Amino acid sequence: MADQPLVAVTRLIPEAGLNLLREATQIRLWEEELPPSPEQLTALLRDCAGALTLLTDSIDGEVMDREPQLRVISNFAVGYDNVDVAAATARGVAVCNTPDALTETTADFAFALLMAAARRIVEGAEYVRAGKWQTWGPKLLMGRDLYGATLGIVGFGRIGKEVAKRAQGFGMTLLAYDSYEDEAAAREFGVTYRSLDALLRESDFVTLHVALTPETTHLIGARELALMKPEAILVNAARGPVVDTAALVEALREGKIGGAALDVTDPEPLPADHPLVKLSNALVVPHIASATVATRDRMATTAATNLLAVLRGERPPHIVNPEVLERT
Ligand code: DGY
Repeated sequence: MADQPLVAVTRLIPEAGLNLLREATQIRLWEEELPPSPEQLTALLRDCAGALTLLTDSIDGEVMDREPQLRVISNFAVGYDNVDVAAATARGVAVCNTPDALTETTADFAFALLMAAARRIVEGAEYVRAGKWQTWGPKLLMGRDLYGATLGIVGFGRIGKEVAKRAQGFGMTLLAYDSYEDEAAAREFGVTYRSLDALLRESDFVTLHVALTPETTHLIGARELALMKPEAILVNAARGPVVDTAALVEALREGKIGGAALDVTDPEPLPADHPLVKLSNALVVPHIASATVATRDRMATTAATNLLAVLRGERPPHIVNPEVLERT
């Protein structure tokens, strides 16, 4: 209806979310497979009261200044490093995200990466597909055991805790590093806090679950990789820039660490001729940790619910900068 607010949706999200928006808004939908360019995004957002955005859309103060009527940026992700939150807050624009929708699914996937890298599952499948399987071999594709090994969890928030739960079932010793140490949670999940350096030195597997901020950018660089055990495996299902890519390539090439399993990379996407794609001790998948049917539906409905709540003048279930609500 003409009097309904106009909202931009920057990609084809699951219908469950679109249906919620259709009940109360007019949708301007970007239906292409690739994200809109900055110019296309500008056109998409024109005159919109709300935007349902993806982690591939960069929304800064300039974008917001072009659309002063914009009241809410609702990100279809738990991470919101693609949005300049300080700029949004300064302009009274609410920024929302989808934290609870994907916690378990992402933890499952981090654990799948851990298992796949430790037990060389993808290498094994490629071996069979290439017709190389001749016989049972006593030394064929030997990997590393998870049971009895030490797992270092960097970032002990929602997802880090769910990873700990899964690792307990595998009889792993659990270490955690976080800027905030929650002793009650450490007891509950059987985790011992360590400094980052100590965790890197002691762990057989290291899994990253921090948000991307200026403080966590290149948190794992050449110095940190050099602290890890030569056979250790690094898992990243957080954000690519948490790891210094050049340093990781060198560490993998020179055997300073045993392997890496990456759902996220820097840059993203990785070109097929990138060294990380070519190295046999690196396993790279295309940022799919939250990609299950049920979770993507939940992310879509959460993002839509957040957006609609702000437009109605209500408190959304998940808002990153609640101070903007207190001002209205
Ligand atoms: C997120 O939500 O931030 C993930 O990276 C995509 O689901």
